Amino acid sequence: MSRNHFSALLSGVALALTLSTLSAASVVIPYADPLIYYNGRWDSTPETWWTGSGFKLNVQNLSSLTLNLGPYTSDPVQLGVSVNYGNFTAYNATQGANVIPLTGLASGDNVIRINSVGWESNHMNLETIELNDGAELLPYEPSKLAFQFIGDSLSAGQYLPNGVDQAWPFLTAEYFKAEHNVQAQPGIALSEIDSYGNVNGMTYQFFRTEDTQFYYDPLHNYTTPWDFKRDYPAATHVVCMIGANDSGNNVTSSAFYQTYINFLAKIRLIYPVQPLFIILPWGWPSADGPPSPYYVGIYEQVVNYRTSFGDKNIYLVNATGWIDYSDVYPANLHPTVEGHEKVTGYLTSWLENWGLTAESSWATPA
Ligand SMILES: *[C@@H]1O[C@H](CO)[C@@H](O)[C@H](O)[C@H]1NC(C)=O
Ligand SMILES: *[C@@H]1O[C@H](CO)[C@@H](O)[C@H](O)[C@H]1NC(C)=O
Ligand SMILES: *[C@@H]1O[C@H](CO)[C@@H](O)[C@H](O)[C@H]1NC(C)=O
Ligand SMILES: *[C@@H]1O[C@H](CO)[C@@H](O)[C@H](O)[C@H]1NC(C)=O
Ligand SMILES: *[C@@H]1O[C@H](CO)[C@@H](O)[C@H](O)[C@H]1NC(C)=O
Ligand SMILES: *[C@@H]1O[C@H](CO)[C@@H](O)[C@H](O)[C@H]1NC(C)=O
Ligand SMILES: *[C@@H]1O[C@H](CO)[C@@H](O)[C@H](O)[C@H]1NC(C)=O
Repeated sequence: MSRNHFSALLSGVALALTLSTLSAASVVIPYADPLIYYNGRWDSTPETWWTGSGFKLNVQNLSSLTLNLGPYTSDPVQLGVSVNYGNFTAYNATQGANVIPLTGLASGDNVIRINSVGWESNHMNLETIELNDGAELLPYEPSKLAFQFIGDSLSAGQYLPNGVDQAWPFLTAEYFKAEHNVQAQPGIALSEIDSYGNVNGMTYQFFRTEDTQFYYDPLHNYTTPWDFKRDYPAATHVVCMIGANDSGNNVTSSAFYQTYINFLAKIRLIYPVQPLFIILPWGWPSADGPPSPYYVGIYEQVVNYRTSFGDKNIYLVNATGWIDYSDVYPANLHPTVEGHEKVTGYLTSWLENWGLTAESSWATPA
């Protein structure tokens, strides 16, 4: 054996020893591991944008989990953590190592879901996931049902303690044991206008990786197109509730109608056959009368327009009466935790009457 070969062999032994020492401490999963099931919108950093973005893991023999987060992480980023499909609990994470509290672990496989619940300062920059020695990542099989929600603050869960994890879109997906993507941003209009700090409307931003807060982010002050092939599985049901902030910015009914029509034409290119549910919003509740609606007559005209030229899979969901003053925070007229549960009850019943059935169990059992 030549001297060179010998030293190569020696350093190979040293490397093997180092690796086994490391693995005795923990199992380190790099962010690019294909067994991490990502949901929502992540850029290539990788960093989360849009509320509800996160990941799901199926882990055998799990006892501890540490998230190592990079410099693009918000300070803090508010996360929701769910063990084996239980309720999400709040956890504030920051750059560096975050030991995630896990309660309710089972002895066999465990499904862990972690997402960012906010709509601003909502960046989780994942570097590695560190698991206990002996833990093993297994594939996470997504549900065959997948919702795409599109909306504003009323869908994003603004003002709720645990953000989107307590909001009706997310709760609706949970009820049906479905995957979910929630493109919802407080203050956003559908129209391409600067609305309450959102420099773009949903008609533009929906098609981007980043939410509208990119504009205020000195580390990432630009947007990139979203590659819809990364939504896996592709959405099977699309739900849209929007217009409050167009109305708040005095966008006329005819302009809003035209924008909605154009938006749905673009949506149909991505979701050619999926059912589209257009929600006629419940309006702004008031202490001394019924809620005041906006764009009266327009939502049904939008649906009728598409139906008139043969779109057979678009439905008006009339949410009039779903929410009243007792269901909102008086200071901002947004639904409370209980208000969001009420909306979830109405919408899930509506969808069941329409013909959707909840999965009997999650595709990845816990
Ligand atoms: C989970 O949350 C719901 C309401 O969001 C509540 O009714 C239920 O009791 C909670 N379950 C547990 C186990 O805490
Ligand atoms: C997380 O941080 C926010 C402030 O950024 C705070 O309002 C909230 O109470 C914290 N939540 C937890 C669970 O510590
Ligand atoms: C679980 O991990 C421990 C080490 O922490 C190991 O001894 C055990 O064999 C593992 N069990 C399984 C089922 O992999
Ligand atoms: C528009 O959005 C802002 C921010 O979410 C919200 O506070 C406000 O109530 C909305 N205003 C109107 C008129 O829709
Ligand atoms: C982001 O870029 C725009 C110009 O494109 C600029 O007006 C804005 O101040 C920038 N914001 C930050 C936080 O860098
Ligand atoms: C919308 O119109 C109302 C009534 O004319 C006016 O008071 C309000 O300032 C306008 N809002 C905006 C954002 O232009
Ligand atoms: C929506 O529901 C309300 C209350 O039931 C009703 O008055 C209204 O006509 C409905 N609108 C449409 C377009 O069906």
